[in-house]
Amino acid sequence: MPDTRHTNSKIIAAYRQRTAESEALASRARQVLPSGIVHDSRHLHPYPIYVNRAEASHKWDIDGNEYVDYYGGHGALLLGHNDPRVMEAVHRQLDRGTHYAACHELELRWAELVQRLVPCAERVRFTSSGTEANLMALRLARAHTGKSVLVRFKGHFHGWQDHVAFGYDGHFDGSPTPGVLEGIAEHVLIAPPDDLAASVALLDSRDDIAAVILEPTGAGFGWSPMSREFVAGLREATAERGIVLIFDEVVTGFRVSPGGAQAHFGVTPDLTSLAKILAGGLPGGAVVGRREILDWLDFEQAEIIGREKIQHQGTFNANPVSAAAGIACLEIVADGEACATATARAQRLQAMINRVFAEEGVPWAAFGEHSAVYFFTNPGGLDIDPMRFDAASLDADSLRVGGKHPAVAKFRLALMVNGVDISGKPGGSTSCKHSDEDLDRTADAVRKAVVMLKEEDEL
Ligand SMILES: Cc1ncc(COP(=O)(O)O)c(C=O)c1O
Repeated sequence: MPDTRHTNSKIIAAYRQRTAESEALASRARQVLPSGIVHDSRHLHPYPIYVNRAEASHKWDIDGNEYVDYYGGHGALLLGHNDPRVMEAVHRQLDRGTHYAACHELELRWAELVQRLVPCAERVRFTSSGTEANLMALRLARAHTGKSVLVRFKGHFHGWQDHVAFGYDGHFDGSPTPGVLEGIAEHVLIAPPDDLAASVALLDSRDDIAAVILEPTGAGFGWSPMSREFVAGLREATAERGIVLIFDEVVTGFRVSPGGAQAHFGVTPDLTSLAKILAGGLPGGAVVGRREILDWLDFEQAEIIGREKIQHQGTFNANPVSAAAGIACLEIVADGEACATATARAQRLQAMINRVFAEEGVPWAAFGEHSAVYFFTNPGGLDIDPMRFDAASLDADSLRVGGKHPAVAKFRLALMVNGVDISGKPGGSTSCKHSDEDLDRTADAVRKAVVMLKEEDEL
């Protein structure tokens, strides 16, 4: 990492000045953790903050600075940090044990809730993460169809396992990233999103396709938005050809609506991967879907049908503490109010930020559907009116490239200096706990950050 100790940037200097304890921990961390971090999205120049407390929509770093938090546990915290009903369930379960290596009633209640809320969930199998859920969804699809190829969409993210490690942020030609076998990449096709004719032509071009997987509201929770027509068209095209349609609802599940994007769109896939909100802020995931497909995991069905079942283990699948948190969270989410509130907060915040951009003469815009808030940083210098910005009028590449704008890293630091934390896309998501005061504070922080960027000729 370049040494910016002697930088002329007032933003970086202000950030360093407020975060001395974080800087000390970051330099210790680099001696033991690659880049000093445990998740690629935390890579930040000159170093990330270290957080030691959070509550509702706020978190505090180790130096005592307070932030309005839009990172939201990578989207897991629709109810914000430490929802009292979720925490009570977690504490109660902690006193009763964290792992029984046995069946427990909580896993059953958790699965029943998922079955009730998610339209395609005739059967549920818990995993420990969204990555694992997608891995199992793909294996199920291959076993069920007897075919091998997976179709994905450019820019769509599905975790870090080998079949999905390329094609979301580069390697759009389908070539493997380091450590991924050519043989695996050869069985994955990357298609352009939101182009139904191209997808149908691809599905018709070969007879070895097992599954199509997508983020149903578009790559990165609508960072590159996608139309319902495309999703509904894919449903029809895959059903007609006996191809398994997998919705990756790791982010959209229980967020877009209590039944996820599939309930919102009225389009039911064959399989769905879930995680994040599913487990109420603790680790957990699940693959859910048609009984006939999930039956590949079933001992009795394997015997009746006379076939080898798919094996599936996982030490922490549906561990009792995650199950307790998940049940408490989904019981709250079920009536739709938390989803609606988070969405309303995000939409209001976008309008407030766009007003700031317009008033400050900055050709950037906030956008996003549902409870997402993304920043279009306009690296191509398009002539836009932030108050009338329509993300759907731009192609996916133009929208996403904004994250690579050279001013973005400093924008994030400037927001942090003014008490707001967002992800590097740049953007984030709201919870139902973000208050009017939080939104005012955020819009004010955006204004101050923009002024700081202008002073450094970054805008
Ligand atoms: C759409 C999507 N799918 C899958 C994953 C992977 O989930 P996990 O981090 O639980 O492995 C993520 C994580 O951010 C995601 O956003």
